[in-house]
Amino acid sequence: MILIFATNNLHKLDEIRALTRHRIKILGLSEAGFQGEIPEDYPTLEQNASQKSWYIYNKLKQNCFADDTGLEVEALDGAPGVYSARFSRIGELQFPELDVTEGNIRKLLTLMDGKTNRRARFRTVISIIVDGQETRFEGIVAGTITNEKSGTRGFGYDPVFVPDGETCTFAEMDISKKNKISHRGVATNKLVDFLNQ
Ligand code: IMP
Repeated sequence: MILIFATNNLHKLDEIRALTRHRIKILGLSEAGFQGEIPEDYPTLEQNASQKSWYIYNKLKQNCFADDTGLEVEALDGAPGVYSARFSRIGELQFPELDVTEGNIRKLLTLMDGKTNRRARFRTVISIIVDGQETRFEGIVAGTITNEKSGTRGFGYDPVFVPDGETCTFAEMDISKKNKISHRGVATNKLVDFLNQ
């Protein structure tokens, strides 16, 4: 079976290929011959994941899947959520002088300043379309937002997120350990179970 993963992120491709072994051939967008932007303009992770997978399915006429992830912070009413990637480039508080990831973290810590409820979760939604039929999977990891950055591994908000049951941030954790417990790891394992059926 050949499946297109609607991503250009090589790290994500490696991760899923390691889990699906040789039974399923997974191609990234460039390997599938697709160039250009995929629209991603809905207000929920579910809608965006679906939009991306249907867009590629309709363009390439091949079975495919797409994912969308957000950090949902309780004290911020679920923000940055679907806007996690470009949080520091939107809304009232922006940090154009910082690179986007640094800006995102600075904005998050600024908005969380003085907040006692620091509960948050990462949530990933995967949408897969096989022969015109869509199935979705969700992966969640709950935790807390720290007061300051810690650690240099990982990416995105990893330096300010401590998963429940751990004492260090995702950015201080071994990558294989993070992948086992992370939102994406959980959603990906559900996808792999489905594919291996
Ligand atoms: P995407 O949908 O996987 O591209 O994720 C959207 C945004 O969420 C990224 O740009 C990151 O800011 C954030 N994010 C997603 N996954 C992670 C993670 O595992 N650690 C930290 N931040 C993440």
